[in-house]
Formats: sequence, C-alpha cells, structure tokens
Amino acid sequence: MEKTILITGGAGFIGSHVVRLFVNKYPHYQIINLDKLTYAGNLQNLKDIEDAKNYEFVKGDILDTELLKTLFSKYKFDGVIHLAAESHVDRSITNPLEFVQTNVIGTANLLNVAKLSWNGDFENKMFYHISTDEVFGSLGKEGYFVETTPYDPRSPYSASKASSDHLVRAYFHTYKLPAIISNCSNNYGPNQFPEKLIPLAINNIKNNKNIPVYGKGDNIRDWLFVIDHAKAIDLLFHQGKAGETYNIGGDNEWTNLDLIRTLCSIMDERLNREKGASEKLITFVTDRAGHDMRYAIDFTKINQKLGWKPSLDFKQGLESTVDWYLDNEDWLNLIVSGAYQNYYKDQYENR
Ligand code: NAD
Ligand code: TYD
Repeated sequence: MEKTILITGGAGFIGSHVVRLFVNKYPHYQIINLDKLTYAGNLQNLKDIEDAKNYEFVKGDILDTELLKTLFSKYKFDGVIHLAAESHVDRSITNPLEFVQTNVIGTANLLNVAKLSWNGDFENKMFYHISTDEVFGSLGKEGYFVETTPYDPRSPYSASKASSDHLVRAYFHTYKLPAIISNCSNNYGPNQFPEKLIPLAINNIKNNKNIPVYGKGDNIRDWLFVIDHAKAIDLLFHQGKAGETYNIGGDNEWTNLDLIRTLCSIMDERLNREKGASEKLITFVTDRAGHDMRYAIDFTKINQKLGWKPSLDFKQGLESTVDWYLDNEDWLNLIVSGAYQNYYKDQYENR
C-alpha cells in the first residue's frame, strides 16, 4: 500500500463521504476508520464499501490513548484525517462537557499520540483537522469569514472546536507536527443525522409533523453539498501546506425560513401534495440560546491556490438530497427510533 490513513469519525455524516471517496479513488491506500459509534455514527452509511480490500473499521474512542498507540504502531499511519466530534450545537447547549471531552481532550489525545508515534520523523506525514466556520462567531448583514478572521466562538460546540483548532496549531508551532486545518460552512446531503435542519425538515414534512423554526427564521447559513466538502478535503490532504488553514464554503447564503420554504415546495411536488400544503407545517418555536445570526465564508484562498469551488447548484443539490431521503426510508426509519425520540421530545416537544 502506498499510504495508510487513519480517518476518525468516518461513520458520521461527512466522515462517511470522505471514507467512501478515499476507498474508491485510492485503491492503493489503506483506510482505517476509527469511530466510537455514538448516536451519530451509523455503519449503514458505509454499506457499499464495507467489504473493500483497502478498508477497515475499528470501533473505538479518540479518548482511548492505549488504543490509539496500538493503532499507530500496527498500521504506521502516514496521515490522519480527523473528523470525529460531537457536532450538534443544540446538544452542546444541553451537554457542554461531552463536547469538551471529545472535541478538546480527544483532539489533544490524538495529536499527542501522533506526535509520540511519529517521533520526530515527520517526512510525508500529515495531520489534517476538520473544523467549522462557527469558530469565527456570528456575522452581521455584511462581511465574510476569511482565514485570518479572529476566533470568536459563542456556543459550547464552536468553543470546543476553536480550542481543538488552537491545539492543532500549537502542535505545529511547538513540535513541528505537520498539520493543516480547514473551516467549512454548513453541509447538507445524504446520510445526515435528522437532528440537523435539512434532514429534520424533510423527515417532518414527510410525516406531516410541524417544522420547528427557531426564532423568526431569519438566521443565515452558507450551505455546501457534502460531496463538494469531501472533494476539498481530498485536495487539501494531498496539496495543502502544513501550518496553513483553509476556508471552505458554498457561496450560498439562505435564511432558514427561505430554505425551509424551498424544501416545502420540493416536497409538495415529490409527495404530490397541493401547492403550499407543506408550508402549513412551519411552526415558530423559542429561539436557540445564543443563536449565531449569520455565517458566510470567503473561500478565495482554496480557490486560488488549488482551484476548488463548489460544483453543485443549490436547487439541484436540495432536490437530489430530498430524493435520497425519500428513497432511503429504511435508513431514516432505523434512526428515528429509541434514543432519538427521547432526544427529540426534550429538544422540541418540551419547548
Ligand atoms: P457527525 O456528528 O455526523 O459525525 C461524527 C462522528 O464522530 C460520528 O460517527 C461519531 O460516532 C464519531 N465520534 C464522536 N465522538 C467520538 C469519539 N470520542 N471517538 C471516536 N469517534 C467519535 O458529524 P459531521 O457533521 O459528519 O461532522 C464531522 C466533522 O466535521 C466534525 O468535526 C464537525 O465539527 C465538522 N464540520 C461539520 C459541518 C457540518 O455542517 N456538519 C460543517 C463544518 C465542519
Ligand atoms: P443546524 O442544522 O443545527 O446547524 P448549525 O446550528 O450548526 O448551523 O441548524 C441550521 C440553522 O437552522 C440554525 O440557524 C438553527 C436552525 N434550526 C431551526 O430553525 N430549527 C431546527 O429544528 C434546527 C435543527 C435548526
């Protein structure tokens, strides 16, 4: 094998697309997917490649130092692509310490084992940390996040991601561990856990349940199709410069309300409902605490240095995403059960 790569969090939403892309595109790479399988990890996301010769799954926690040391010693990783994280802002508001554990301590643990295992021999090694635009805080009507925008995280989730970014930079500067970071805007697409806005809305519309819109629905997010993010990760892993950070975004800003209305009209068509029927499900609920108003990414750097840009038109991307969730009822039904239902009650029904 030409390279052996550790991907953490590969059973989650973005991780599963990254694992699939690497396993299929690089048959001469060995891909090890380390995932704890929390509520968000779902091996069904990887059914199509689970038997590939160059793929292996390991169930485990990035907080488990001994396991990490054993894996580094067994596989002699050339690179790490680190996606494992607690990723949902609302959950971070109810359980912030879990986010500190996984996102901060877990990342520190992984960095430390990489440093110890590579033991100063950093040639052809790369530690790639996947982060979020939420570390930059909240924008007003004007402006964009650039790579040099000062960090100003405002939720326990974004604060934990910001801490992990700082640790990655500290390991680069202090120990010369070759590391890159990318900060991406909101992703959407197949396999996203239906606690996040788009799959939650699709699932609720399908089941004729209310669509909870926080506050007035005027918060703005910059949406990117998940496979475009996976392609950017591939480019940066191979061609990104150690010590650098790169912003990734969709150039695609929507208020939550406009986005949900667009989804409603696609769903009306797909479900042969009367025009406007799904919009009636829109329900305004208490706003999220500390709700960031607007995120918007300037991705000039990755565009100019590596030629990356989003490939998919949003309407097309949303339509294909809706079709995926409607065609994959089993995937959705398996998730929408048990623990998720309890969480759902706490999050929405008791508001
Ligand atoms: P996700 O919640 O869908 O998946 C996270 C995965 O990490 C799950 O498979 C889970 O089982 C695993 N995991 C959690 N804790 C773990 C631990 N302690 N040890 C090992 N595995 C663990 O998340 P996602 O949306 O795919 O996000 C992946 C990464 O991308 C995260 O780091 C997130 O901060 C970042 N990101 C996400 C978005 C987005 O829009 N979803 C945007 C930018 C950046
Ligand atoms: P989300 O998908 O949780 O991503 P993030 O908080 O990381 O941006 O939410 C996207 C936007 O949608 C955010 O402004 C919060 C809002 N939102 C709702 O209005 N209702 C919902 O049920 C959810 C989950 C989110």
